[in-house]
Amino acid sequence: MYTPGQTKQLQAQTQMFLSIPSIDKDDIETLRQVLRFHEYRYYIENDPIVADSEYDRLFKQLERIEAENPGLVSPSSPTQRVGSSLNQSFPTVQHLVPMLSLDNSYNAEDLIDFDRKARELTGVETIEYCIEPKFDGASISMIYENDLLTRAATRGDGVEGEEITANIKRVRSIPLSAPFSKFGVQQIEIRGEVLMTKAAFHKYNEGLAEQGLPPLANPRNAASGSLRIKDPAIVAKRNLEAFLYHISYYTTVPGFQLPASSLSERNEENTRNDNNPADITENSKLETGNSSLLSTHSGTIQLLWECGFRSPQKEKKLVRGIQGVIDYVKAFEQVRDDLPYEIDGLVIKVNDIALQDKMGMTTHHPRWAIAFKFKARQATTKLKAVEFQVGRTGAVTPVAKLEPVAVGGVTVGSISIHNEEYIKEKDLMIGDTVLIERAGDVIPQIVKSLPDVRTGEERHIQFPKQCPVCKSGLFKTEDEAVWRCINIECPAQVVERIIHFVSKDAMDIKSFGEANVRKFYDLGLLKDIPGIYALDFDAIGKLEGFGKKSIDNLLAAIEASKQQPLHRLIYALGIRFVGETTAKTVANAIHDVFELEHMNEEQLQQMEDIGVKVAQSIYTFFQNGENIKMLHQLKELGLQMYNLKRSVSTEATALQGQTFLFTGTLLKLKRSDAEAMAEKNGGKIVSGVSSKLNYLVVGEDAGSKLEKAKKINTVKIITEDEFLELMEAPDTAPTP
Ligand code: IVH
Repeated sequence: MYTPGQTKQLQAQTQMFLSIPSIDKDDIETLRQVLRFHEYRYYIENDPIVADSEYDRLFKQLERIEAENPGLVSPSSPTQRVGSSLNQSFPTVQHLVPMLSLDNSYNAEDLIDFDRKARELTGVETIEYCIEPKFDGASISMIYENDLLTRAATRGDGVEGEEITANIKRVRSIPLSAPFSKFGVQQIEIRGEVLMTKAAFHKYNEGLAEQGLPPLANPRNAASGSLRIKDPAIVAKRNLEAFLYHISYYTTVPGFQLPASSLSERNEENTRNDNNPADITENSKLETGNSSLLSTHSGTIQLLWECGFRSPQKEKKLVRGIQGVIDYVKAFEQVRDDLPYEIDGLVIKVNDIALQDKMGMTTHHPRWAIAFKFKARQATTKLKAVEFQVGRTGAVTPVAKLEPVAVGGVTVGSISIHNEEYIKEKDLMIGDTVLIERAGDVIPQIVKSLPDVRTGEERHIQFPKQCPVCKSGLFKTEDEAVWRCINIECPAQVVERIIHFVSKDAMDIKSFGEANVRKFYDLGLLKDIPGIYALDFDAIGKLEGFGKKSIDNLLAAIEASKQQPLHRLIYALGIRFVGETTAKTVANAIHDVFELEHMNEEQLQQMEDIGVKVAQSIYTFFQNGENIKMLHQLKELGLQMYNLKRSVSTEATALQGQTFLFTGTLLKLKRSDAEAMAEKNGGKIVSGVSSKLNYLVVGEDAGSKLEKAKKINTVKIITEDEFLELMEAPDTAPTP
């Protein structure tokens, strides 16, 4: 979409904008072009050329100019993705052309049959096919009028869907305006699939787990669920993507040069639903320069790409004759898992649109396309029993024991069914036939039970009243879905905490593993986390299977783990609601793990993305004397308790040891650069306002931190400029 010349120019413009503190309102259009360009590089090309923080800075400048000059706000401004109010409900709207489904094929015979019919219907000997992924997401249709996105809808029943425009505007890879007019198009309806990439899905499930919520079964459910969320701001956080692959309808600008149309027949056949204004010409063939892009499906894909959409331009494959299709789909199934998103097959489309029109459609699907479905990742099996396992936080989790079944190449015999609410929601009983799914590398999940095939022999799942391991009573708070064993010494919890501590994402003590933790614990060789660093290797050496080499490996792995970065240690502690992401946030906000012992919940909440629940959990953990004792033991055993990245320069200055905190938006400096500057001069960054704070550096729109600091007379409140002066001449700094 951007030529090398345009790219160079926009890049230069970006650098210019980044180098000045305040962009002038006269440059608003250029700034918007720059932002759209970076959105394109990021969301369509997957190849950003500015840092996220730099993009954010430019975006904030645009917000500022628009706030100061409301008359300059335009509906296609990048800012208009955000800020719209909550949807109260989703009105039903009619698609301009009904959204058909696809016929399915599963093997070479089905494809040969499809090709035979296609050749019969068209009279063409060898047909050219365009093959593209069958995206496994939620289908949408969108209307652009005069280049602006005016409406987006879910598929619904194919004729009518729900209007979800506000949510779709939060999908960054969907342009709010697209240059269709360049191709003579006034109104256009296009279709595609909204999906969550595997990475975004994992992150999303990680977030659910951190909140103690059960994960979603697959990215498709996550995408379709996200589209129907009432708050577009939450939709924005889901990191949805969209692929657009079909133009179902369009009208052209009056007076645009119109050659004879083949697409006109298609639109008539599709029985358009609404009235069309009289002064526009419908259904015309689109011209781009000399070649008509829309005479082929691959051209359609290219046109959408050129208009700034993420279409399968790079993924599509043109093949002549069905044997080439068969070879391609077979080979593709092998690399399916390498894609960053889920697909459930490939779609094979007759490439020539004139031939498509000749073939027409049934009431259910077009005759010119067929889906080739890959091996199902779903299977049905019997739920034979439920066992209850105690986790490291004492949560008692029901685990369904299944008749082992192969799904997507893996045999599944047990699946977590999370909690009582989940069991109720999925309507699960012992003896049920259940549908299970293993989407890519996602942990298998039960999609649903099949109550229609119940025999009457099924039994309800009974929750235990006592911990299945230590037999103490179980408790459940009102706001939680899980029952917990609150005996901190419960052997099951202790073992699970150690297993978590040594695990790959935590301290990554290779070759330790779950089996060894259990073995050493059962033999009395390991009773708590510090015990990992004081193992009796003479005793272990006498155990079967522990030769010199395996002991050396284990020793080396344990020793190496002492140098793991602080965020790994924080995650390894197994604090409730503190997953890897939160652990990194916490580690980045401190220098030394023991600082957490002196932070209150309010200070913890001032860390990025840390809410009440997480702050409370961290606070409780660090107020527990046993936990602090354990941390001191670990320190003595040689573990690294500092955030090395944040250690200060040793050069003494007048600012040595002075504490700094930044609040509000800094206009000249990036927050991280400002913090680094303060540290370089001997300062220390703290994360909350307290009497220990020396300097509060106040940017624009400072809030509660400023108010709080005003009440403490020892805190020196300075502007960004004053901070810069201080950094230039630290030795003249007044002691606050
Ligand atoms: S073409 C008339 N192409 O799969 C156009 N559909 O199971 C018909 N889908 O309803 C759709 N990827 O939601 C088409 N590359 C692709 C697709 C695709 C996913 C979805 C679409 C359709 C469903 C049928």
